[in-house]
Amino acid sequence: MVNFDYQTPTRLIFGRGVVQEKLHDVMEKFGKRVLITWGGGSIKRSGLYDQVREILKDKEIYELPGIEPNPKYDPSVLEGVRICKEKNIDVILSVGGGSVLDCTKAIAGAACSDADPWDVITMKVPTLKAIPIVDIITLAATGSEYDRGGVISRTDTNDKLAYFSDLVFPAVSFIDPTYTFTLPVRQTLAGVSDCINHIMEQYFCGEHIMMNDAFMEGAIKSLMKNVRIVLEDPENYEARAEIFYATTLGCNGIYSLGNSESGWPMHAIEHALSGHYDINHGEGLAIVTPRWMKHILSEKTLERFVAFGTGVFGIDPALPEMEIAEKAIQSIHDFYREIGLPMTLHEVGIDGSRIDEMAHHIAVNEGLENAWAPLYEEDIAAILRDCL
Ligand code: NZQ
Ligand code: ZN
Repeated sequence: MVNFDYQTPTRLIFGRGVVQEKLHDVMEKFGKRVLITWGGGSIKRSGLYDQVREILKDKEIYELPGIEPNPKYDPSVLEGVRICKEKNIDVILSVGGGSVLDCTKAIAGAACSDADPWDVITMKVPTLKAIPIVDIITLAATGSEYDRGGVISRTDTNDKLAYFSDLVFPAVSFIDPTYTFTLPVRQTLAGVSDCINHIMEQYFCGEHIMMNDAFMEGAIKSLMKNVRIVLEDPENYEARAEIFYATTLGCNGIYSLGNSESGWPMHAIEHALSGHYDINHGEGLAIVTPRWMKHILSEKTLERFVAFGTGVFGIDPALPEMEIAEKAIQSIHDFYREIGLPMTLHEVGIDGSRIDEMAHHIAVNEGLENAWAPLYEEDIAAILRDCL
């Protein structure tokens, strides 16, 4: 078991009706000037926007709407930084999915620095202070509501980079599973795929402990079972709640305390896909997952495949180990296909023309030669070709 140093300062307020019940009191301690960040309008359609404005009617409210999926540095982060500096914002309230929250984290850190915001996001300049963040998360996917990271895209350079700081952990996250009743099927599926992948990035590693294996296998089984339930019955509260619980823990590290690092290779590859083509993150991951598994399967990695195949999919442990591993890869592919995720790059509008460019970008920027299962440029290109 490896050493760990773990602290999460975020207060989670989880359940039906929690915003109505507690948002006003929670916001009291942060000050009067509030910047509300939000996306393309789902919160207006669901009524959440009006509800929040009503609850916070005694505050001085500013707004940054229009944050897109794969949130953009320009204009969203830059505009948010400008508002925070000009209006001396006390607290940012993010209302929406992971993209809105990630953008909010970048704004919160960059607005407290005189440096160029991009230097803060790329961590060339340390984050020494951040505006406090409260969020109402409306999509079960990223786990951004319980972690210290945000992913920001820059269209002019095709960069999609993760920004990390302990200071951008949300102070408080409101998680009401009923908000996910309105999710389009596509987003529900992408969120589940994203979370399964977060767990797999922590499961497929060198040093690992039995307790974490059971925790992660249980979470994936819960996601697989409950996503099937919500496909039939989108307003099934218990199923939505279990999905949200699993996704909230996804990127916080808690699934794998004591495990060694894997290097998060599938995320590194997917971030280049969505950085170059602006595709949905969870859909990109579903496509990459079985191809990455196939590529890294070897005598050295075999044990993880056997544990995963028997623990998650109930594959017969008496079978030869290689057969279990191959069945595990096929099982995850079949599950994604069955629930309706796209499983080839062609299905999300990507052809082979920029594969070498993306493989080079990943090899130069992501350090995957140091991953648990090392990947060099030619490996990454081969995985991407297999995804076509
Ligand atoms: O923009 P609006 O109108 O709000 O619509 C959004 C958006 O179109 C919609 N949506 C959100 N909640 C809804 C809803 N529609 C109906 N009802 C609701 N309750 O869903 C669409 C996608 O939203 P987005 O926020 O982009 O999705 P998600 O939460 O999956 O976030 C994806 C981003 O997070 C990054 C991804 O790379 C991607 O940029 N990630 C962030 C991580 C983190 N902070 O830890 C880790 C992840 O691995 C990931 O990389
Ligand atoms: Zn992810």
